[in-house]
Amino acid sequence: MVVSAHPVATAVGVDVLRDGGNAIDAAVAVHWALAVTSPWAGNVGGGGFAVVRLHGGQAMALDFRETAPGKASSDMFLGADGRPLHEVSTHGALASGVPGSVAGLFALRDSLGRLPMERLIQPAIDLARNGCVLSPLEAHEINVCMPMLQKYSTRPSAFTARAKWEAGDTLFQPDLARTLERIRDRGRDGFYRGETAQAIVHEMERGGGIITTEDLAGYEAVWRPVVRGQYRDIGVISMPPPSSGGMMLLQMLQGMEAMDVGAAGWQSPATVHRMVEVERRAFADRSSFYGDPAFTHIPVEGLLDSLYNLGRMVDFNPLHATSSATVRPGLPPTEHEQTTHFSIVDGEGNAVSCTTTLNGMYGNGVVVGGAGFVLNNEMDDFSSAPGVPNSYGLTGGEANAIAPGKRMLSSMAPTILERDGKLLMVLGSPGGSAIPTSIFQVILNVVDHGMDMQQAVSAPRFHHQWLPDTIQVEYDAIAAQDSLKLVNMGHRFKSRRAIGRVDAILRLPDGRLEGGADPRGEDSAGGY
Ligand code: DON
Repeated sequence: MVVSAHPVATAVGVDVLRDGGNAIDAAVAVHWALAVTSPWAGNVGGGGFAVVRLHGGQAMALDFRETAPGKASSDMFLGADGRPLHEVSTHGALASGVPGSVAGLFALRDSLGRLPMERLIQPAIDLARNGCVLSPLEAHEINVCMPMLQKYSTRPSAFTARAKWEAGDTLFQPDLARTLERIRDRGRDGFYRGETAQAIVHEMERGGGIITTEDLAGYEAVWRPVVRGQYRDIGVISMPPPSSGGMMLLQMLQGMEAMDVGAAGWQSPATVHRMVEVERRAFADRSSFYGDPAFTHIPVEGLLDSLYNLGRMVDFNPLHATSSATVRPGLPPTEHEQTTHFSIVDGEGNAVSCTTTLNGMYGNGVVVGGAGFVLNNEMDDFSSAPGVPNSYGLTGGEANAIAPGKRMLSSMAPTILERDGKLLMVLGSPGGSAIPTSIFQVILNVVDHGMDMQQAVSAPRFHHQWLPDTIQVEYDAIAAQDSLKLVNMGHRFKSRRAIGRVDAILRLPDGRLEGGADPRGEDSAGGY
């Protein structure tokens, strides 16, 4: 089964599974396909993370996060007056980190795949060349991003081929098809060296960016040990730093152990209150401790210590909200709107949970001239200066300051759950800071509230990230009288459109798979 953000990408993955490919092969093919069907987030110019669990239970994590270019500096997004230049960290050539996705897909296939890369990339090439028919939402999104793509790209592109897109129009991407063909024919070097690398560097020269041929040739994806934790009788496997997402998820789940969540009721004031208080504290820790482990010492064991997380809740008042102004990052023992997620399980029980991103929708707005793909604006995930919020309102300090070659802190949390040593669930989400909290809620929906996979994904969500000190809620997420009770407890509310976009697979006790495709997007589940 495959659950992804686009029905055509889902079908590409299911075809690979039918053809004898395993979940890893399908993941690689789905990632290539999403770069064509869903260029607002699917990408070759971005980066991401994948968590794999093989049917025997071994798990591994692949980090293909972008890196800061060699010429990056900690103050590159501060003006002469020391004020943050938000526009520069989010748009145009300087906003892009060195892309990691292509290296990531080769690392995945070469280590764990079965089918040749030519087979896995060809469907994407065909889609780019033969065109994709746009849904109403896709046409709308290109139109919305058109001014940005026109302003920041230095050459016309497939997206600017029409002044206005309508549902039913076909988007042809011949430049992207040729880039994918170079990758098919020359492997990773088809992207990180030669013509594609030159196109990126020329784009940088025209647009005032700093990515060099050396930066591209030197990019490496990194295999990392997964982070593991326990929630009730369930084993949780997720992404380690440089994403904060997996560890925050484990911190938040630990914070719920002391409560009978099911008995307290779904979205009841008591449940929402405790979840918010747990989220608030995890994000306070994020702002101070988390960053690229190659540059920053992260007290991983301390942050995941159950006593530490119990201790974080000592000032929890069951009747009143804690003010974020009084919540400081803890002192752990010293040791020790765009991204897309897809979940895949094959017939043998191998599972892949992969989240990949350009950061913002259509990344930094720069389509690499002649190469047909958008670059990321992941540099905004660094902290430009202590306390300066990024696009998701997240602040940070030294641990996540910009340095050459460093990976910017993420919140992405591709996650796999197991029970009694057997695969239970594969899930993940886009949504920036709302990624770990969306996954947190879907897990509680199934484990504590007894929902099935689709109900758990569809159910309305809320989110708290320490600062700003408000509970962000989807429409109808919390009943009016319960909101009132929470306000009386000292919480503040702000409504928000969609929180996260979770694509998940649940393995039922009899071995059948149930997909949960998020209705907040055009996501689809497919299997056989
Ligand atoms: O890595 C991160 O945490 C962000 N770049 C993710 C951005 C994102 O999820 C946007 N999606 N809606």
